[in-house]
Amino acid sequence: FSHFLTDTFDRQHDYLRISLTERCNLRCVYCMPEEGVPLSPQKELLTTPEIIMLSSLFVSQGVTKIRLTGGEPTVRADILPLMRQIGALRSQGLRELCLTTNGLALHRKLEGMVEAGLTGINLSLDTLDPWQFQIMTRRKGFDAVMKSIDKVLELNKHGASIKLKINSVVMRGINDKEIMRFVEMTREKDIEVRFIEYMPFDGNKWNKGKMFSYAEMLDLIKEEYPRLERVKGHKNDTSKTYKIPGFAGSLGFITSMTHNFCGTCNRLRITSDGNLKVCLFGNAEVSLRDIIRQSNNGQPIDESAFEILKQLEIDRNRV
Ligand code: GTP
Ligand code: 5AD
Ligand code: SF4
Repeated sequence: FSHFLTDTFDRQHDYLRISLTERCNLRCVYCMPEEGVPLSPQKELLTTPEIIMLSSLFVSQGVTKIRLTGGEPTVRADILPLMRQIGALRSQGLRELCLTTNGLALHRKLEGMVEAGLTGINLSLDTLDPWQFQIMTRRKGFDAVMKSIDKVLELNKHGASIKLKINSVVMRGINDKEIMRFVEMTREKDIEVRFIEYMPFDGNKWNKGKMFSYAEMLDLIKEEYPRLERVKGHKNDTSKTYKIPGFAGSLGFITSMTHNFCGTCNRLRITSDGNLKVCLFGNAEVSLRDIIRQSNNGQPIDESAFEILKQLEIDRNRV
């Protein structure tokens, strides 16, 4: 199976994103309605041993980076033991263990996560104004998020090396006036601020007019910093990276709406109910949960692994 994670477009899928929960402690206006999203029954969700088993299987097949996402992954009660077990896969070839979080509860769990082997954090923060935060997320918590950011930087100062990125979704007329404040954050701090083009999903009450494009953001930043320069990012980055000479951090742009980056996408995704998706926008899904629950009935794990690989092959050819 040595090539099973290389697809027909020669993309090596060595990066796995696992959603740990559908739940979230915020209600960002572009993501969730006030009442939250409908939740799956508990028995349909992956258990922690199942998540560990799948992680281990994918690492054995060449995955070197795992990102834990949600919903909001920190609301999963057993996130720390779960991360410790995934972190232990370093001896099997895992090189990066990352987290995408809104930062609200992060400061409480951060040290344990770093001990578990956390190497990177993508923290979602769309505004630097506490009132605006409450409008955009429909919840209070701005100070807690800032506390998390400071704590990451503090740990880094004392020897940790956690790669910190801030994800900021830009919406016209809502937080576009804060772009330059976010740019300023990178002057002294070694963080990457990534501006994300707002995606008006179906059913979202916002319209396309709220999208603020990459080109517009670049123009705006270049007005003040004409020396803004493009730098080479990593091979499979979803973002285009820039730097202002002399600034400690960098800027990134996730251009989901205006330039697609599918050609270099190396991501595999497992939803919290155990479906494997090769593409965020593809509908093809295969239930790894059903496969492991059926085939792991007293059989050795290699058997079930074999089944998963066969299913994956089918799925890949459909995307
Ligand atoms: P790293 O590259 O490891 O830093 O992570 P990432 O940028 O893939 O992950 P993150 O969870 O921070 O997601 C940032 C943004 O990228 C979010 O807005 C996602 O919706 C978007 N995103 C992630 N993967 C894809 C993808 O394959 N296609 C598209 N269009 N958007 C993606
Ligand atoms: N448009 C753009 N980005 C979005 N995210 C969630 N929903 C949307 C959307 N409609 C972002 C979050 C987070 C990242 C994982 O995805 O803000 O930073
Ligand atoms: Fe959605 Fe993330 Fe906001 Fe939660 S923090 S509502 S998952 S965008």
